[in-house]
Amino acid sequence: MTAPVRLAEPTTVRVALAERSYDIVIGRNLLPRLGSSIATLRPGAAAAIVTDETVARHHLAAAEASLADAGIRTARVVVPAGEASKSWPVLERICNGLLAEKIERRDLVVALGGGVVGDLAGFAAAVTRRGLDIVQVPTTLLAQVDSSVGGKTGINAAQGKNLVGAFHQPVLVLADTTLLDTLPPRHFRAGYAEVAKYGLINDAAFFAWLEANWRDVFAGGPARDQAIAVSCRAKATIVARDERETGDRQLLNLGHTFGHAFEAAAGFSDRLLHGEAVALGIALAYGFSAELGLLPRSDADRAKAHLAAVGLPTGVSDLRGEVPGIGRLMELMAQDKKVKGGKLTFILARAIGQSFVAPDVDAAAVRAYLAARLNDR
Ligand SMILES: NC(=O)c1ccc[n+]([C@@H]2O[C@H](COP(=O)([O-])OP(=O)(O)OC[C@H]3O[C@@H](n4cnc5c(N)ncnc54)[C@H](O)[C@@H]3O)[C@@H](O)[C@H]2O)c1
Ligand SMILES: [Zn+2]
Repeated sequence: MTAPVRLAEPTTVRVALAERSYDIVIGRNLLPRLGSSIATLRPGAAAAIVTDETVARHHLAAAEASLADAGIRTARVVVPAGEASKSWPVLERICNGLLAEKIERRDLVVALGGGVVGDLAGFAAAVTRRGLDIVQVPTTLLAQVDSSVGGKTGINAAQGKNLVGAFHQPVLVLADTTLLDTLPPRHFRAGYAEVAKYGLINDAAFFAWLEANWRDVFAGGPARDQAIAVSCRAKATIVARDERETGDRQLLNLGHTFGHAFEAAAGFSDRLLHGEAVALGIALAYGFSAELGLLPRSDADRAKAHLAAVGLPTGVSDLRGEVPGIGRLMELMAQDKKVKGGKLTFILARAIGQSFVAPDVDAAAVRAYLAARLNDR
């Protein structure tokens, strides 16, 4: 784990992407500074806030007040909350809303919400008037540590998750950690899976710190801010090395190939949240690595034990409702975009904090491992 983060004032993490570089600012009570930040970044620009109905109830008034205080002309587009909004009809509504509000090339879109709003508003910004700049104001733990950073935007298609989209980096990310105080605990816990993921990918010291301090991270305060800042730094480093996911960035998919299959089988519903599916997927990926003889069994057990300790699902027996059969799961994994030439790409591990991209994993070995896990139930 790199140097401790100073917490008295906001922490800034730079995402170094040449002319597309930007800052992630992390700290408490940053939303009131949204207006002044935008006025500094783009003097005279208008701002269109895209948010969902739930986030609007909690935080839209404060966001609009901050913009108004800075003398910024403001528009808003409010969409229904939930994954189902990552769709063509809602995307169209946002694009039309931006045009109707006369948002021009030099104005800004502000995504105020979780990963759903961030992905949707990011894609709308990427395609409206051939590209509007966007400021991400993430309001879930998952969005603060993962989805608001790195520029992946998009919607879901009938064929699968995130299959229509664009890379569109934000010009600023403002992560106000006090906004998480209103987030339901189940969503906070789901986002925590992505935090633990960074430790398991390449930072064993961070993982050990989380094992010791996760209760404080959940309670809020300095430990939570620290976990968010370390996570953002990890993501920023990987994205700067591989913006378009041709190499290292694939590491961020740890747990996601298994996870997406279960998420899809649950119909992208509240039955299994994205982060919950990722936790299960990480436990399976670490277990599979041990099964293949690549990873000490004790490391696989340790990863799983930590995710289970915070209350995340780590085994098929933790899932509610109907569990898909092995045939269906294999089909869903094959449909996932991380498949090349019939071989499955998995992120596997040699130790806690030593994950690697395995591009040539034998589908039969995956099937045998997963079939056995389904029988554990
Ligand atoms: N672009 C990327 O790199 C990337 C990375 C990871 C995940 N994602 C995407 O992110 C999405 C999941 O994001 P999410 O978990 O943030 O879900 P989400 O955006 O649906 O938010 C979860 C729920 O919490 C509510 N909410 C949000 N902030 C709140 C707050 N502060 N107080 C009270 N309620 C609040 C929302 O209205 C929603 O009902 C998925 O679609 C996933 O594909 C994208
Ligand atoms: Zn994820």
